Amino acid sequence: MTYKWQRKGMNIDHELDQYFSIDHPGQSYEGQLHGPEALYTSYKDLIKIYSDLDFKKGVFVDLGSGNCRASLLFKCINPRIDVISIDWNYEVISKARSAGKIIGIQSSKFIHGDLNEIDIPNADAYFLYQSTDELLYRIMEKLKNHHPYKLYAIESHGDLIPKLKNDFSWLKECNVISQSSSQRYDPMIYRFSSRPFSSFSQEILNINKGMHLNFFHELLLELRWHKEYVALIEEEDHCWLASTYLVQSGLVAQTYEFRYPHRIVSAGKIKKLFKNPPELKTFIKERFEIHSKIRKIILAPHIQIEYIDRGRIHLK
Ligand SMILES: C[S@@+](CC[C@H](N)C(=O)[O-])C[C@H]1O[C@@H](n2cnc3c(N)ncnc32)[C@H](O)[C@@H]1O
Repeated sequence: MTYKWQRKGMNIDHELDQYFSIDHPGQSYEGQLHGPEALYTSYKDLIKIYSDLDFKKGVFVDLGSGNCRASLLFKCINPRIDVISIDWNYEVISKARSAGKIIGIQSSKFIHGDLNEIDIPNADAYFLYQSTDELLYRIMEKLKNHHPYKLYAIESHGDLIPKLKNDFSWLKECNVISQSSSQRYDPMIYRFSSRPFSSFSQEILNINKGMHLNFFHELLLELRWHKEYVALIEEEDHCWLASTYLVQSGLVAQTYEFRYPHRIVSAGKIKKLFKNPPELKTFIKERFEIHSKIRKIILAPHIQIEYIDRGRIHLK
């Protein structure tokens, strides 16, 4: 479909932002001021996403909506669609609320909130153009039980699409729907479909009570929400324990970024997953504290605790 405004030579993003009165120099994001071209999805790409939707009356949620272009555009094209925008930046949300009023979008459809904290509404489709890190895992954890839905995604920093492909077992089928009209790290626009979530870990943990589980990717990522499990990492001359809590895939394929302690570890070095050994529980617990000085907890050849300021101390 071609829209009237798809004329050559027009900066459609600027013109439509002005038309909706949501134009501004950009927004501070991750500590830096970014211009609209970097921060927001072009209306041209949003049209591609809209055209791909397999519903015209359902709910679309923009997860980190910025100036809420998707909401305003989709609603102008199709008044029956329900678009919910969520962003923690009050300025962009309040501007979009004023713009939405003119087109007839209720103010409650523009949610000012932190995606880490709030419940995410059920939807037929979600949109994610967002940095990865912990926020991605928290968002996806909330979407885990929202099946069925589609998730549209545009790469942000180079690891969003690989993580969506690998780290969330409740996403299946990744399709490229089109090429983005903006310069992006990965030039494609992706559509994922959900599948019902079924836990890998629950059955395994029940069977052997969490003792010596064979490592596999999906299990490690499920255990990222638990403080009471560790991974056994084998180096050439020693073995040590990393807590599974908040582990993520690393930027390089076949690596993991552990948080406790903060280390990038290649998958080949992870030998087992198991419950915190009782004799080391206090040290493992202490390592979660913000100012903890405990770094590595070494299991073999001798049990040792490695401190930031004191080096390795033997435990009897
Ligand atoms: C790259 S922009 C994408 C904006 C919009 N989805 C688009 O594509 O045009 C990401 C947005 O996510 C918002 N954001 C980042 N972290 C957030 C959080 N924890 N809760 C809510 N919004 C967040 C930022 O304020 C920013 O507006």
